[in-house]
Amino acid sequence: MPVTKMQLVLFIAYFIGIFSVDAFGDGPSAWKQYRFRQFYLDASNLSATQTTTSQRTRCYTDNTTAPDLPTNIIDIPCKQTARYVIVETTYDAPEDDYLDEHGAILEICEIKVYGCEVDTYGVDCMPCIGCQYCDVSSGVCDACEEMLMRSR
Ligand SMILES: *[C@@H]1O[C@H](CO)[C@@H](O)[C@H](O)[C@H]1NC(C)=O
Ligand SMILES: *[C@@H]1O[C@H](CO)[C@@H](O)[C@H](O)[C@H]1NC(C)=O
Repeated sequence: MPVTKMQLVLFIAYFIGIFSVDAFGDGPSAWKQYRFRQFYLDASNLSATQTTTSQRTRCYTDNTTAPDLPTNIIDIPCKQTARYVIVETTYDAPEDDYLDEHGAILEICEIKVYGCEVDTYGVDCMPCIGCQYCDVSSGVCDACEEMLMRSR
């Protein structure tokens, strides 16, 4: 029976703030990224086997349909605190049907995850200044947290 879903799970240490994920598909010149269509990327605190897609936070859905191809490098801004990045597809590319290949196949070369631990920010993951949790890229203290502290 053909595979109906193919997934790739990255375990990314303990809680971090992801702010950019590159799904990078590239290869020999004759190679086409048709198995890169219609993937989706979720951030999750629980592993793929412990969750349904509704328990994860969706950061990206590719909607490319054949014969179009997605660009082979996709930057995905995804500011989430999570332990797992789950990349999945249920897409069966028509291009390989003549080889009698049926089912979901996902072809990705490289996924880069950029982030920091929750109490740090920036390229060098510096400690947040003046608060415990801050915006992972700007270092701006969480407004809700500040209000909470002021109301105490
Ligand atoms: C993961 O847990 C943290 C801390 O409880 C929470 O702030 C964050 O939103 C959760 N992430 C997801 C993707 O559910
Ligand atoms: C793909 O379609 C979904 C549902 O309409 C939408 O939320 C999402 O933003 C689209 N993805 C892109 C990359 O445009």
